[in-house]
Amino acid sequence: MRTDNAHRYRVLLADDQADIRDALRLLLKNEGYETHAAASPAEALSAIESREFDAVLMDLNYTRDTTSGQEGLDLLSRIQIVDSTLPVVVMTAWSSIEVAVEAMRRGARDFLQKPWENTRLLSILSTQIDLRQALRRASRLEAENRLLRAESRPSLIAESAAMQPVLELIARIGPSDANVLITGEHGTGKEVVAQTLHAVSDRANRAMVTVNAGGLSEGVFESELFGHVKGAFTDARVDRVGRFELADGGTLFLDEIANVPLNLQAKLLRILETGELERVGSSHTRRVNVRVIAATNADVNAEAEAGRFRQDLLFRLNTIEIHLPPLRERRGDIELLALHFLRIYAQRYHKKLAGFESTALQMMREHPWPGNVRELDHAVERGVLLSGEPLVKSSDLGLRAGGPGAATRLEDMSLEEVERHLIQRTLNRHAGNVSHTARALGLSRSAMYRRLQKYGLE
Ligand SMILES: Nc1ncnc2c1ncn2[C@@H]1O[C@H](COP(=O)(O)OP(=O)(O)OP(=O)(O)O)[C@@H](O)[C@H]1O
Ligand SMILES: [Mg+2]
Repeated sequence: MRTDNAHRYRVLLADDQADIRDALRLLLKNEGYETHAAASPAEALSAIESREFDAVLMDLNYTRDTTSGQEGLDLLSRIQIVDSTLPVVVMTAWSSIEVAVEAMRRGARDFLQKPWENTRLLSILSTQIDLRQALRRASRLEAENRLLRAESRPSLIAESAAMQPVLELIARIGPSDANVLITGEHGTGKEVVAQTLHAVSDRANRAMVTVNAGGLSEGVFESELFGHVKGAFTDARVDRVGRFELADGGTLFLDEIANVPLNLQAKLLRILETGELERVGSSHTRRVNVRVIAATNADVNAEAEAGRFRQDLLFRLNTIEIHLPPLRERRGDIELLALHFLRIYAQRYHKKLAGFESTALQMMREHPWPGNVRELDHAVERGVLLSGEPLVKSSDLGLRAGGPGAATRLEDMSLEEVERHLIQRTLNRHAGNVSHTARALGLSRSAMYRRLQKYGLE
C-alpha cells in the first residue's frame, strides 16, 4: 500500500486485550507500518508524551469499565491536550452511536466497529495520516503566508532568485526557537529579517528587544545586557533590569555581535547555554526564556579564527545562519524596493507621485549600491523630496550619473562585476531580450540564464 520507505509511519495501538493488539500489530506490520502497543490509557499517554506518532488506533473501553467508553473518551481528551493534530481513530465493540459521536466531538477523526474489516481499517488509517501530512504542509504554508502578509510584520521585499533561500529559511525556522545569526553587508536588511523572524514566531506578541553591541562601551555593556542592582558601581543608584530580562518570553536581537568584548562573550555564552544570569552586583540567579537573533556585517568566522571571537559562542549563535546578499547581487528587487520606498515617502511628504521616470529606473538598476538597500532608501527619499509631480526623475535621486560604467573604472571592478556590468549593458541594448543578448555575448541561452540568476538580473 505504501510506497515511501524513507519514513515508516508509526501507529500507536491502544487496547486492553492482548489478542486484539496482536492482530492489529500483524495487520499493520504487513502494510509497512511501525507499531507500538499500549494496554491501558496510562501506557498510551506516556507513549504519546515520549515519542512521535503519526496516528492512534484506540479502544474506547478498558478493563475498569467495559461498556460506557468513558476511559477511552478521557484518554482522547488527554491526547488532544498533548497533540491536537495527532489523528485518533476509535474502536468500540459496543458500538452505540452516541459514544462514537461523543468521541468525534472530542476530536477523534473517525471510528470503527469491532470486529473491524481490515480494508476499511487500513483505508481510514492511511486517509487520516495523509490528511495530517497535508495539514502540516498547510501550517508551513501558513507561516510562509504570514511572512508575505504586510500588515502584521515589517515589509521584507524579496522576489529575486538570490533572496529565495532567505525566504525559505525564514519560513522554515522563523516559528522555531532556534538561534539565528544574520550576516551581510551594511544596509542589506539584517534588522528587517530579524523583525520578520520575530513576527512569524510564537513570540510575536511578546517584545523583540534590541541591543546594539557596536554602540555600547565596554563599561555599560554588561549592565545593559544583564541589569544591575543598586550600588553595584558608583552610578548604580537604582536597580536596573537588563535587556535579557526585558526580552523574557520574547526575542533579543543582538546587533553587531562581533563587537562584543571578549570577556563579555563568556558571560553571553553562559546565558545562552543555561538561560541563567545574575544582575551585575548580585548573586541571585535568574532564569530567562529568550530567543536570540544576532547580526553582524563582520566576517565572524575570520574573527573567531583570529581569536577575537569565541568559537563556542559562535556555535551557539549560528545554529542557523542567514546570509543576505548585497543589493548588487539581487538587482531583480531594486525596482520593487524603490516603489516601496516611493509609496512610503510620498505619503509621508504628501506628494502625489505615481512612480519613476524610466531613466531614473534605469539608473537605479545599474547603480552599484555599495550602501545596499539603505542607500536605495535614502536615494528614493531624496528623490521624493526634490521631485516635481507626478514622476521622480533621475536627477532627483542624487546618484552619480551613468551607473558603475561611468563612475567606476573597469580596472577597479572584480571580474564578476565586469561580467555583470557587460551583461547588463548588452541586455539594455537589446531591450531586455535574453536570446539576443546571449547571442551577442556568444553564450548559450542556458549559460545566459545561469548568469542572469547569479547576478540577480532576471
Ligand atoms: N528586503 C527589504 N524590504 C524592505 N525594506 C528593506 C529591505 N531590506 C532593507 N530594507 C530597509 O533598508 C534599511 C536598512 O535595512 P536594515 O537596517 O535592516 O539593514 P542592516 O543590514 O541591519 O544594516 P546595518 O548593517 O547597517 O545595521 C531599512 O530602512 C530597512 O527598512
Ligand atoms: Mg542593522
